[in-house]
Parts: sequence; structure tokens; C-alpha cells
Amino acid sequence: MSRLEVRYAQCWEDPRLSREALAVGPDDDVLSIASGGENGLAFLLDRPRSVTLIDRNPAQIHLVELKVLAARRLDREELLGFLGARPGPDKDRLYDVLRPGLSGPARAFWDRRRDLIRDGLFHCGRYERFFRAAIRYVVPLIHSRKTLRALLDCPTVGEQAAFYRDVWTNRRWRTLFRLVFGKRVFGRWGRQRSHYRYVTAADTWRLFYDRAERELSQRLVRDHPGLAYFFKESAYPRPENLPLWLQAAHFPAIREGLDRLKLRTAGLDEILAATHPGDFSKFNLSNIFEYMAAGEYARALGGILRVSRSGGRLAFWTMFVPRPVPSSLSARFAPVFPDGSPDPAYRTWTLFEDFHAWRLL
Ligand SMILES: C[S@@+](CC[C@H](N)C(=O)[O-])C[C@H]1O[C@@H](n2cnc3c(N)ncnc32)[C@H](O)[C@@H]1O
Repeated sequence: MSRLEVRYAQCWEDPRLSREALAVGPDDDVLSIASGGENGLAFLLDRPRSVTLIDRNPAQIHLVELKVLAARRLDREELLGFLGARPGPDKDRLYDVLRPGLSGPARAFWDRRRDLIRDGLFHCGRYERFFRAAIRYVVPLIHSRKTLRALLDCPTVGEQAAFYRDVWTNRRWRTLFRLVFGKRVFGRWGRQRSHYRYVTAADTWRLFYDRAERELSQRLVRDHPGLAYFFKESAYPRPENLPLWLQAAHFPAIREGLDRLKLRTAGLDEILAATHPGDFSKFNLSNIFEYMAAGEYARALGGILRVSRSGGRLAFWTMFVPRPVPSSLSARFAPVFPDGSPDPAYRTWTLFEDFHAWRLL
């Protein structure tokens, strides 16, 4: 089997924030990182002219191709079962129905990975498997099921924060958190070593540790789409935690917009080099800039300025590596949230450090 691998089965960035920041509308052509596809699909709710999803990892594009095909051909209940968002016993049969509609490379990829299809596409990424394994195998070394239940069932955020601080946080939790979410283990088995190339923080586990504490003091686990997904036995027990594009109120509009979606296996640099000025107006770029050296990042910003229509916007996240506007380009970018603080509830949705949203001048 080829070494191609789905890294991210779903997007773990808050699509509400990128939609608000980019203010996508009917005249827009959006360029977005594909990853698991959720955030690019969510832009279809804003009815832009086009959404182009790119990813340099072909496996991510194969994943999105299959999700999109399933969204076209299955009814919503079947789709939720096929993806693994709900129990769905007939994933194999549904794949047989869908496979003639796949491109040759995607069909060859998924034919060799039917075990992943049987598990549900939502769980097939390296990242998701890492978190689920940590919760399944590491948490029991620290706490009983009863204590875990008590954390998940706290009735108020105040009680949850106190429980986390006074009961959950003990020496073993801290030691194992440090081990599991350090660069060596998480970087090797959950993310990629190369994601740490430009990280200067000595203790990335510590940054996550503090963010987890902050998160648990601000939102109940069951109200938190990411944590609720990772902690619960059934993937999405509450419909409001489903990815936006799959929510009952939004799915019909998403399905209607699928013809405006384009998929491309390519790096941002290749796309920018092959794009004409004015081809795109809105850019949603995940946290890819922290995998680049500062010079490469500045060149990418230059490329975005070159291809963007006037009034364009750029949104992206950072996890460990600060990526301010380089001083040579500062006159060309204006923050979308001038006070630098979009709704704080959005910022804390994930383990990211920051979210940037700029108008291109
Ligand atoms: C940026 S990653 C999300 C990472 C996650 N937030 C984390 O840091 O662990 C999302 C996707 O971006 C893709 N990607 C990374 N750099 C890219 C680039 N320069 N061009 C296109 N896709 C890229 C990866 O293949 C991956 O599927």
C-alpha cells in the first residue's frame, strides 16, 4: 500500500470565525485549505461564486472527494451513518454504491482502505486516531470511569472548572499530559515533526496544557464540538455539535452549492504561481504559515496580494509560531477585527493560539 495517509479526518478550526472574518458573499471566489473539508464546505452557506479547496496531501483531497460524493448521493441520515457521525451499519454497501462516481485515483485510494470506511470517514485521520487513543488508553491510567463521567457531567462551567482543578489535575495527569502532548509523541504520532521546524517555544505541551485548562474553565465539554467528539463513545451525540455543513438547517443549502466546489491537489505556492490576478477574493489558510520559514511566509503573502481582487480578505490560525504581518508589507494589510478581539467564545474553541483576519489593501 502506498504511504499516502489522511492526516486530518475533519477540520478542527471554528468555521464560524472564518465565515465572520471573511464575510463571503455571492461575488466571492474563495481559496481554502481542504484538510477534512468541513470549513470549505461551510463557505457554501454564503453562496459564493466558487470555493476552491487545495491540499498538498492527495489523501486529503481523496477524502473530501468521497465526502462530497456521499453528500450528493445519500440522504442526510445515510450520510451521517456513512461518515461515522452516527451508528451506520452499512458503510461497505454505501461505498459500493458510491465508488463508480469517484475519480480513478480516489477510487484506487479508498478501495485499498475499506477498513477506514468501515470505521467511518470522520475517524480515519492520524490526528483523530491519536486523540481517541490518548483518551481510550491514557486517561484510564489516571482516572476511573466514574471520575471521567463526573467531569463530563458537570452541570455548570464553574463546577467543571473547580472539578478539573481540584480533582482531575493531579501529578499523574500532568506527567502523562507532558509525555503525550510533547513534541516527541504528539509531533510523531498526531501531527508531523516538520510542523515543529519553526517553533521556538521550549515546552509546547505546556502551551496545550494551559489552553486545555482555559478551555475547561470557559465551556462545558458537552458544549464543545471538539472535546465532545473526542470524549464521547458515539461521535456526535448532540446535533448542535455536528460540523456546520451537516447540521439539518444547513445541509440542503450545502448540497445545492456543491457544484461551486473545486478540489485541487497542490501546495499554496503552486496555486498562487498558476493563478491570475483577480482570480480569488477570499483566502482561508488554516495554520499553514507556521510550517513555513519567515521568508517563505512573506513570499506567500506577496503572492496572495498579487492574485487577490481588491477588497480581498485573508484568514488563518497559528498554534505555536507567531505570524504577524512582516513590516515590509504592513501597509497592505488591515485587521478585520480592529480591536484585535473577535468574540472570545470563538477563540477558545480549539487549541490554537491565535486567529488572524486581514483586509488586503
Ligand atoms: C494546516 S493542516 C491543519 C493542521 C492542524 N491544525 C495542526 O496544526 O495540527 C491542514 C492541511 O493543510 C495542508 N497543508 C499544509 N501546508 C500546505 C500548503 N503549503 N499548501 C497546501 N496545503 C497545505 C495539510 O496537508 C493538511 O491537510
